[in-house]
Amino acid sequence: MKSKASAPGKVILFGEHFVVYGVKAILCAINKRISVTAEKSEENKISIKSNIGNLTLEPNKLISEINSPLKPFYYLANKMIQNQNTGIEIVVESDIPLGVGLGSSSACCVAGAAAISRLFHKTSKEEILKLAIEAEKTIFKNTSGADCTVCTYGGIMEYDKENGFDKIESEPNFHLVIVNSNIEHSTESVVARVREFKEKNETKFATLCNNESKLVKDVLGLLKENNIKELGCKVIQNQKYLETIGISNDKLREMIQGGQNESFGAKITGAGGGGCIFALTDESNLDQTMNQFKEKNYDCFSVKIDFKGLDTF
Ligand code: PMV
Repeated sequence: MKSKASAPGKVILFGEHFVVYGVKAILCAINKRISVTAEKSEENKISIKSNIGNLTLEPNKLISEINSPLKPFYYLANKMIQNQNTGIEIVVESDIPLGVGLGSSSACCVAGAAAISRLFHKTSKEEILKLAIEAEKTIFKNTSGADCTVCTYGGIMEYDKENGFDKIESEPNFHLVIVNSNIEHSTESVVARVREFKEKNETKFATLCNNESKLVKDVLGLLKENNIKELGCKVIQNQKYLETIGISNDKLREMIQGGQNESFGAKITGAGGGGCIFALTDESNLDQTMNQFKEKNYDCFSVKIDFKGLDTF
């Protein structure tokens, strides 16, 4: 029997970095997915095949000794086959670019947790989310769990460190044009750089956190009203705050500038330093915005909000 599941990637719409210091962030799931197929096998091995490589290992290895981005799958499979006389074969297919802040690893953990656990018993979304966060911790020890949550439930979500997650029930009708800088970034080191900035500029940073909080509050109202044009102004404003804390660079600025004329606004999404930006559009300016980026040979694609979240087959 095969068990299959898919989960969407995500973008951070507003509030990255400031969320580390208690400000509310807004995330949404996007309609680019990762699919995982799991099957029991007679051979006593855990085998994972994916477009970023393969991994085959005996069960019960120490996770800390596995040096592979596929280790969350190994962790999940190994956990599930305890006291079961079986191996597992896993196949991963992704249409989310990897390692650029679009939630590929969370989507892997969520779809992996669902596909693998359902080979053994029926699992609820809550149980799958818990497993997925455990698996994600094998690569990001300090994950907030926000990414896995939005990949599981889909839609738009607000998140802050104190109160956790809250689903936003509005269904705004925007398109995001995602542009990939193809510059690798390490979230950890960019977060460390922001900490340095904060330590040298405490007052300025506190003001920025206040401003970002106000901005996010306004955004929550605008999302309800589906006021995409005004949301674009907030995107532009949020990008100014991100510029101030030093997470942008010439390439990202050039990309953002490239999309600013046609779209309602563009900003970095996620850690910055590399990774992706998005430009906010609707039906009226989606094609023009895409064309602007394509003319400059940027690596870009458009997405909408995914309202489905985790899907199992
Ligand atoms: O690029 P990503 O998706 O890893 O986003 C990082 C978001 C930060 O706010 C910069 C860090 C965090 O832990 O929230």
